[in-house]
This record gives sequence, C-alpha cells and structure tokens, in this order.
Amino acid sequence: MQTQHIKIEDLPGQEADLRRAASILKEGGLVVFPTETVYGLGGDGTNAQAAEKIYAAKGRPSDNPLIIHIAQPSDAEAYAVTNPTYYRLAKAFMPGPLTVILPKKDTIPLSTTGGLETVAVRCPSHPVARRLIELAGIPIAAPSANLSGKPSPTCAAHVAEDMDGRVDMILDGGDCEIGLESTIVKIDGNSLTLLRPGGITYDALCMVCENVTVASAVTHQLADGERVLSPGMKYRHYAPTAPLVLLSGEAEKVLRFLQTQQKEKNCAILCYDEECEHLNRANLLPIGQKKDLETQAKRLFHALRDADGTDAEIIYAHLPPMEGLGLALYNRMIRAAAHTVQTIE
Ligand code: TXA
Ligand code: MG
Repeated sequence: MQTQHIKIEDLPGQEADLRRAASILKEGGLVVFPTETVYGLGGDGTNAQAAEKIYAAKGRPSDNPLIIHIAQPSDAEAYAVTNPTYYRLAKAFMPGPLTVILPKKDTIPLSTTGGLETVAVRCPSHPVARRLIELAGIPIAAPSANLSGKPSPTCAAHVAEDMDGRVDMILDGGDCEIGLESTIVKIDGNSLTLLRPGGITYDALCMVCENVTVASAVTHQLADGERVLSPGMKYRHYAPTAPLVLLSGEAEKVLRFLQTQQKEKNCAILCYDEECEHLNRANLLPIGQKKDLETQAKRLFHALRDADGTDAEIIYAHLPPMEGLGLALYNRMIRAAAHTVQTIE
C-alpha cells in the first residue's frame, strides 16, 4: 500500500487535506493523526472491517480494545451509556488526555471493543485531531500508531518507521505535547478506578471525584492468571532489546554508579539534563531536568527508541517518583524494565 504523507503546518489553510483524510476514514481506510498525547492509528469506530484493518496494521491481538475519539463530550451519547460522573469528568478534563470506559451502545461493533460490552471514549484537544473527527462525522477508533511491541510514536518520523506502507495516510502534526498516552478511568457510580495513568494525574481526578482507586496493575506486576480490568494491562508491553534497569538511591551515589558502569561496559543511559556534564557523552540520552516531569514525559518514548538503536548491552534510567505525572512515567518505565529496579546503597 502506498502511504500519503501530509505535513499539517497551517490548519485552516489545509482544510482540503483534512477533508481528504476524513473521506478515507468514512470509506473504511486508515489515517494516522496527531493527538496531544501520542499519534493515533485511526479508522471508523462504527465499522467492524476498519477495526480489523487497524489490528492487522498494528500486528495487535484483536481482543485488545480500541479507544474511540469524539469531537465533543456529548457526542458520547450516540455510542455509550453516559452518567453524571462522566459529565463531571468531561467538564473538568475534556477536551484533553482523559479516556473514560462506559457501557457501549449497539452503534459500536464488538470488533472495535475487542469483544467487550464497554467502550473507551476520549475527546482529544489537538486541533488536527478535533477537526478530522468533525469532518469525518464518525467516532475515530484509534490505538497508538506504533507496531505492537514498540513504544508509542510521539513524532511523525517514528510513525513512518512503523506504519509506512501499512496505512492510507499519515498526517504529520509535529511533536506530541504530552508524549505519554491518555489517562484511562473506569466509572462505578461515584467512584473511579485509574487503569492507566497519563497527563490527567491522580490528584487532578481526586479534585473531581472523592473516591479514586489506582488499579494494582498500574504499579505492580500481575500475578499468574490474575484478572485484569483493562486488556492492555496483560500484554507484554514495550521492552527494549537490551535490558533496561531502573536505578533508585541518593542522587550522588547513583551518579557515581553510572560513572563506574560507563567505564566497565557499553551502556546507554537515560539521564537527567544536569547529569550530562558529569558523564561520558557516548549513548547518553538526556530526558529533562530531574524536577521537570513534563519534559521527561515528552522525551521518554523518543529516548527509549534511541536507546534501542544503540549497540549498548544494558540501558540504565532513573526510577521515577510515583507522584503527579511521575506515576505515568513510573508505569511505562517499570513495564519496559520488566520491573527490574536496582537500589544503589
Ligand atoms: O492517548 C491515547 O490514549 C492514545 C491516543 C491515540 O488517543 N491511544 C492509545 O490507545 O493509547 P491504545 O490502544 O494504545 O491503548 C488503549 C488502552 C489499551 O490498553 C486497552 O486495553 C484499553 O485502553 N481499553 C480500551 N478499551 C477498553 C475497555 N472497554 N475496557 C478496558 N480497557 C480498555
Ligand atoms: Mg498503545
């Protein structure tokens, strides 16, 4: 398949390009589009064949459900059974990086939801995503636009690496602002279960809902045969080819450990910006200042792809804090590291 690559630099001026993309979606084709979190691999969420095409393009098991993207919160009415908690969340966080799991209506085929009677709904804030959904007039089902087993793409170059020749069109909207996938919550009456942490933090959710529980799979390894609340939790997540080890301990001790490791072996390091001057430049991947979790979120997947592209035999990174946006970083990194944490004494 020949993939069209379209760079979107002037949104109102490029309405014609977005109309073409919308037509492809309406006809059952696939279009990769930018969102504020990561790039999405979009198809018509009401079309069972489009969902099958998405699974095939991604190389993803078809029981892992897709998120449907809508232009505004009330559009969910056509596809899901909403409730007052949904609208409270919508008022606070939509459009934005929040996905809500709701009971599905018959307009959404089971192929889109991986056989589940619930559907994940998200209203993205990225202007290209919003305009595309409006023009298509359908909910766009979209997983992250990576091949299964790779980190989610946060720039068009990474999308092209994984999806060129597998989709009809790629809309290049530059770098994604947040860099980690959306926060996913499930509603039970007035309570929420946090299934995947992201740009909307646990503390932010607590401001809107009194009762927020973090699913244990967010921070802990699943026990054999443990039932999961979200199918995505059970799949082996992205892991680089070389083992990734997360380091915890006092800053100076960890830095000294890294300096020694660099002398002894070929390692790649996802370091804090302020550590760069104290370390050997080879295979050094700065991900932001220690305190700047936003920049770390934005650069993490890029740095992991880069680390994977080196000839390093081991990759080191810092264990993120579990507070604020740190919980989302922790969740992605602990899985990429297969829960390998080394404490430096
Ligand atoms: O930021 C994002 O959410 C990006 C952009 C493109 O919107 N999308 C994304 O999709 O990360 P994906 O498919 O890579 O991750 C969606 C996760 C999966 O782990 C899936 O299992 C879970 O959402 N999910 C989807 N529908 C669900 C449902 N009905 N019940 C429970 N979990 C669901
Ligand atoms: Mg994904």
